[in-house]
Amino acid sequence: MTGAPMGLGGTRLIGTGSATPDGILTNADLEKILDTSDEWIQQRTGIKQRRVVDQTKGESTVSICCDALEDAIKNTGVDPDDIDLIICATCTQQMSCPSVACRAAERIGATRAAAFDLAAACSGFVYALNTADSLIRLGRYKTIAVIGGDAMSTVMDYNDRSVSILFGDAAGAAILTQDENPERGSIKQIMGADGRGWECLYLPRKAIDVPECDKDNPIELGMLRMNGREVFKFAVKKFQHVIEQTLSEAGIGIDDVAQLICHQSNLRIIESAREKLGIEKDRVYVNIDRVGNSSAGSIGLCLDELNQAGRIKEGDLILLAAFGGGMTWASSLWRV
Ligand code: UT7
Repeated sequence: MTGAPMGLGGTRLIGTGSATPDGILTNADLEKILDTSDEWIQQRTGIKQRRVVDQTKGESTVSICCDALEDAIKNTGVDPDDIDLIICATCTQQMSCPSVACRAAERIGATRAAAFDLAAACSGFVYALNTADSLIRLGRYKTIAVIGGDAMSTVMDYNDRSVSILFGDAAGAAILTQDENPERGSIKQIMGADGRGWECLYLPRKAIDVPECDKDNPIELGMLRMNGREVFKFAVKKFQHVIEQTLSEAGIGIDDVAQLICHQSNLRIIESAREKLGIEKDRVYVNIDRVGNSSAGSIGLCLDELNQAGRIKEGDLILLAAFGGGMTWASSLWRV
C-alpha cells in the first residue's frame, strides 16, 4: 500500500498483456469424441477452435495468468517493485490457497504488492478492473495489476457436448496507475449479481455442492455444469440492458464508443447486442472463433489483442461488458 492517500484523480491504463496456451482443440477434434459437428458448433456459437493447456507440461490457470502478467510487464516496462496490488479474476484456480495472484506476484518478483483473487466467473476481469480503478481513485493504491484468466479445459467434462464445445483457456492482464485527470479510467461502471440464478452455471467440487435440481442427474464433480439455454436467455437480455444503462448514465451514445469489448460467450449473444445497438462490426471485437469462451480470460485477451494491434488510442472511449455465473454482470466505460 502507498503512504498518504492522494485520491480522486483518475486511472491510466499503462498497458496490457495476454497469454494463450499452444494447444488447439478444433471442432474436428471434438467431432471425434462427441456426438456433434463442426457445422452445429459454428452455427450455434461461432467457434472454430479453442486454446487448451497441456497439464502434462505443467500448464494451468496459474501458468497462463503468470504468463499474461509477465507479458504486460514486458510490454509496459513497469518495474514489479512499483506494483502495489495484484488482483486476479478466475474461477478455475486449482488451489484456493495460495491465490493465483500470489503466484503471479512470485513470477514477476513483485514482493511489495498485496495480492488476492476475485471470483465473479466470466464477469471477473471487468469486476477486477472496476475494483482496481476505484482503489486507485481513492488514493489507497497507486499502481495495480489486474489479471483475468481461466483454464476452462481443466473443468470440462468432454462427454458433455452441451458445455465442452464452448470453452477454452486464456488470460489477459492490464496495468493501471494513478492519473491526475479524473476523466481518465473508468468513468462509468456497473456491477451486479443475482444469486437466484446460481444453479444455471456452477462448478461443484464436492457432493454437497450439487443443487436439488441436479440431485438425480449424473454429475461429474470438478466439472462445470451449465444450463446453456437459461444462460443464453439471461445473457441476451442482460447484455443489452447493461450496455444501454452504462451509456445512458454516462450521457453518451454508442457512436462515441471506439470499441465495444464484450465477453466472448457465444457469437450469437454478441451479435444480438451488436444488432440491437446498431453498431458496425469493426467496433465490436470478436475472437471467439479462434479461442472459444475463456471465461475471465476473454475480455483481458480482447483488450490486449486490440491494444497490440494499435486499435486503442489515447483518449478513446472503450466499453467493456460481461456476464457470467453467479449470475453476475459488469460493465466499464473507460477513457483510455
Ligand atoms: O460465458 C459463460 C456464460 N455461458 C454462456 O454464455 C452460454 C450460453 N448458452 C449457449 O451458448 C448455448 O445455449 C449453447 C451453445 C451452450 C447451446 O446452444 P443452444 O442453441 O442453446 O442449444 P440447445 O441447448 O437449445 O440445444 C438445441 C439442440 C438440442 O437437441 P434437440 O433437443 O433440439 O433435439 C440439443 O440436444 O441441440 C442439441 N445439442 C447439440 N447438438 C450437436 C446440444 N449441444 C449440441 C452439440 N452438438 N454440441
